[in-house]
Amino acid sequence: MERLPGFRDFYPEPLPPSEPWSADLRQYIFDKWRTVSRRYGFREYDGPPLETLELFTTKSGAEIVGQLYNFTDKGDRAISLRPEMTPTLARMVAARERSYKKPIKWFALPQLFRYERQQKGRLREHFQFNADIVGETDPSADAELAALLIDSLRAFGLTAADFVLRLSSRNAWHDFFVARQGAPEAEYEFYQAIDKLEREEPAKTEEKLRRIGFSLEEVRAFIEQGTPTRELAGVMENLAARGLGEFVKIDYRVIRGLAYYTGIVFEAFDRKGEFRAIAGGGRYDNLLKLISGGRVDLPALGFGMGDVVLGELLKARGLVPSFTTGLDVFCLIEAEELRADSLRLIQSLREAGFATDFSLMPAKADKQFKRAQELGVSWIVRLVPNTEGTLEARVKNLQSREEKIYPPQEVASLLRNGVK
Ligand code: HAM
Repeated sequence: MERLPGFRDFYPEPLPPSEPWSADLRQYIFDKWRTVSRRYGFREYDGPPLETLELFTTKSGAEIVGQLYNFTDKGDRAISLRPEMTPTLARMVAARERSYKKPIKWFALPQLFRYERQQKGRLREHFQFNADIVGETDPSADAELAALLIDSLRAFGLTAADFVLRLSSRNAWHDFFVARQGAPEAEYEFYQAIDKLEREEPAKTEEKLRRIGFSLEEVRAFIEQGTPTRELAGVMENLAARGLGEFVKIDYRVIRGLAYYTGIVFEAFDRKGEFRAIAGGGRYDNLLKLISGGRVDLPALGFGMGDVVLGELLKARGLVPSFTTGLDVFCLIEAEELRADSLRLIQSLREAGFATDFSLMPAKADKQFKRAQELGVSWIVRLVPNTEGTLEARVKNLQSREEKIYPPQEVASLLRNGVK
């Protein structure tokens, strides 16, 4: 039995050959995302991995709808695995917004599912850090979110030489579209053509644009000129004031593929251009209204950052730390008549918070010692009867190689108090 294509197994480190994804790296990434989010005052939320199909078909746009893992459940409901978090967030906020002061600053780390063509940086499942702000129209919120995105990448050791946040605006593109008399029903199609500009053959883009009355040349000229809108200039200033100016640039090639974006949009890329987008997001001021059937009308903005591209980038830049087992103590059981007392000692160590392991079955002492070393523990503890017939604990610090003798019942508290 093999795993499905596009899905990953997460093994503990050290990884077996040709297994690229480790549970340790995933945890490392999650910890950083959580730490930085909390530093910015974001609260964690989550929703169900399954939603009604309708939540996605009406709001996300054709591209993502074509990638849904959807089916009819045993209760005849049309449902789908979530391909993104934003519609769920919009649904949750619309349902309970009265219980929360605005602006709402929330983050989540959902696993998402998209039936995509597998390629570098794109799988059929990924974890995505989502951070969103609801209830603030001012561009200061866009800047706050951009700063969070930048700092969450910096937390991994990535610098301005490694990545850049490309800022753009659907408003700027909307004005361009209207000024050139684009037909309103073709506007999203137009955005999608721009979104694919960098990944598609120019002739294909040209053809798509021509069909809706535009030329590639005028689009390129608009991108080239790249004059920031007032909003974008405000965000740039705000980020410069934080000392984060070197991480951003205006780039109108970014427009975003999803249908619901309304204002400032942005994407983070590696500077060398080796990888797909690391993160993307923007404003979606109409989505809550749409999802709540007009009941709740709140402006919103957010971004999603996937673990796949980020993981690949960290590996490529040598920024993945080496992971240990995280074990503190190994208890050797040198004779079976010592097992009961050893178990009591192990229990006391674990209750004191020490990650402790031991051999479940009888094993030769030198084998147990070897195992302890392989596990990279800091201490080896063993019980030994002394001449008076009582048990003493021998505690060996594997770094200093020193061994000390303590009463068994005091080992946990002595270790906790930093006795070396
Ligand atoms: P998105 O651009 O579709 O946006 O995804 C955001 C990020 O998730 C991408 O930049 C990429 O790193 C990662 N990602 C997307 N699809 C895959 C895939 N198939 N395999 C691996 N990684 C992937 C959204 O999903 C928006 N809902 C983000 C958002 C939140 N906008 C506002 N709030």
